[in-house]
Amino acid sequence: MNHHRPISAPRTVAELLAGYRPGHAMEQAAYASDEIFAADIEAVMMREWHFAGLANEIPDTGDFFLFDLLDESVILVRGNEGEVRAFANVCRHRGSRVCLEHRGSTRQFICPYHAWTYNLDGSLRHARLMGPELDPDGLGLKPVACEVFHGLIFISLADNPDSFDQLRAEVDAPLAPYGLDRTRIAHRESYEVHANWKLLVENYNECYHCAPAHPEFRRTHPTHMSADRVEPFNLAMEERARALGIPTDFIDRVGPDLCPPGSVDYSYSRHSLYEGYDTGSDNGQPVAPLLGSLQGYDQGAMDLYVGFLNPLLVYNDHAVIYRFIPVDRERSVQEILWLVHEDAEEGRDYDLQRLTWLWDATTKADKHIIEKNQKGVNSRFYQPGPLAEMEAFTQRFINFYLERLGALDER
Ligand code: FES
Ligand SMILES: [Fe+2]
Repeated sequence: MNHHRPISAPRTVAELLAGYRPGHAMEQAAYASDEIFAADIEAVMMREWHFAGLANEIPDTGDFFLFDLLDESVILVRGNEGEVRAFANVCRHRGSRVCLEHRGSTRQFICPYHAWTYNLDGSLRHARLMGPELDPDGLGLKPVACEVFHGLIFISLADNPDSFDQLRAEVDAPLAPYGLDRTRIAHRESYEVHANWKLLVENYNECYHCAPAHPEFRRTHPTHMSADRVEPFNLAMEERARALGIPTDFIDRVGPDLCPPGSVDYSYSRHSLYEGYDTGSDNGQPVAPLLGSLQGYDQGAMDLYVGFLNPLLVYNDHAVIYRFIPVDRERSVQEILWLVHEDAEEGRDYDLQRLTWLWDATTKADKHIIEKNQKGVNSRFYQPGPLAEMEAFTQRFINFYLERLGALDER
């Protein structure tokens, strides 16, 4: 029996929503209940946009790769007209996975079960021995929502996902000089974290923990300090950026307000690194060739969120993408991808160990503290405490999350 927590501690989605105290962490059930984990999958994972990969990974017609999330599998394929398409990897006959190879190139997808065959546009080409009365219309692979944003492919499993229009209108111009559409994946790494996925997101969204937890990050990025102490660094960076023709207009949504309904939630801002640090590396020296059309280093880094599940950190010479992947209620995978200029060659232009050093070390430290966080949250003594000012983005995530859960409850 639990003698220390109030008898009224939330256990269900409705109780969690009703019992939330703004300005605080969430109740235990948010991180340690199967019922709420199942609701998370519907409310967030099956609705949000997910970074799936780069358009550059499938340059030619018929090139494909799979994106897997929990029970779902999506085929991303380059079509006949050069377009990127996404389909549910589920046969329209009796539901087998159609494509089993994780990546490759093909002219058609043939189901391994009874050999129904699909074109690159998803339409059913041939169904063996089904007779002339079978109408292939309406038996194509089901399309999945897909957006290519600066070469980054996002997919959503929702019927009517949030729109990219406002994101494109505001962020296309400031992002263009970084040439993310001309990058390739230098490395991707998965870190298993024994914690609920929301503890990973909450951790990523605040730098209150950076000073005690991240000696490597702390000597590169001043963001572990309070806003007034960071300001002079940012002003100096803006001057350097202007001199290099790098856009300095920020869309900084740090407040509790979310983007209007119907728009994918996003935020975009740049912050300065410490003086003498051109990029996020062990000694501040560049780790790869400059991205896009950049002409030099303004010693800044860009934080870009496309939804809450896909933060990007863009330095002048490389970019880092995060994915928060739920496995079960207390297990997640933190995936990190490092992007470099598409022409950069390992060994010649960059050293993988130097490129990945900062965020590998930082993520391993985060794994450690997030797992301890889960252990404490599971305790009968856990009670949600007040958030600090430096946790404004974590609060923003909690608001977003509870809103999504609430919307599920109303359906
Ligand atoms: S399940 Fe795919 S052809 Fe039968
Ligand atoms: Fe961290």
